[in-house]
Amino acid sequence: MKFFIDSANIDEIREAASLGILDGVTTNPSLVAKEGKNFRALLDEILAIVDGPVSAEVVATDHEGIVTEARELAAIHRNIVVKVPLIREGLKAVRQLSDEGINTNVTLCFSPTQALLAAKAGATYISPFIGRIDDVGTDGMDLIQQIVTIYQNYGYKTEVLAASIRHPMHVLQAAMIGADVATIPFKIIDQMFKHPLTDIGLQRFLDDWKKNEAKLV
Ligand code: E4P
Repeated sequence: MKFFIDSANIDEIREAASLGILDGVTTNPSLVAKEGKNFRALLDEILAIVDGPVSAEVVATDHEGIVTEARELAAIHRNIVVKVPLIREGLKAVRQLSDEGINTNVTLCFSPTQALLAAKAGATYISPFIGRIDDVGTDGMDLIQQIVTIYQNYGYKTEVLAASIRHPMHVLQAAMIGADVATIPFKIIDQMFKHPLTDIGLQRFLDDWKKNEAKLV
């Protein structure tokens, strides 16, 4: 399973990259706005830290506008993946971009039939938003399962990128189902390291070692 960090915060991205488990980055307009920095400058910083797919989202909502913005973004760096919203105009653009060899991440996916359309349009990634589905009282993980099954049935190459992850259980369940990628906020990457028995066990080992006054080498 590939791990992306869902963040536009340079400190978080740098720290996650230093852990040696990071494969890429996803941003969105809200995450970028939170940083209060110039988008292009921010992208350059991210691209210098992570050598992997970096999703940058278009803000146009018409076919021509999306294609124009996508080409501009893709020209910045070979690792840019253009994030396109799952609307009719968006998928028209994804077909064209895919034919031009530009990688896309189709975002704001909330149904399996939307995901099927995105795969047919040639999307590189599909981003089902698990947490936002949970928020409205439906199980977001069912969507991951449905998409994985549909893509396997027909051998679609589009990768399933589990997004809107809210806690480590989302990562676990998405991994059990076989999602290709999880894009994870920094706080949740950090939570995944933690287990109280690890801390207790380590403390005991260190205390016992001290009592024995032993040397490692
Ligand atoms: C996906 O790429 C989005 O950036 C993100 O996962 C949305 O998550 P949220 O629902 O926590 O905003």
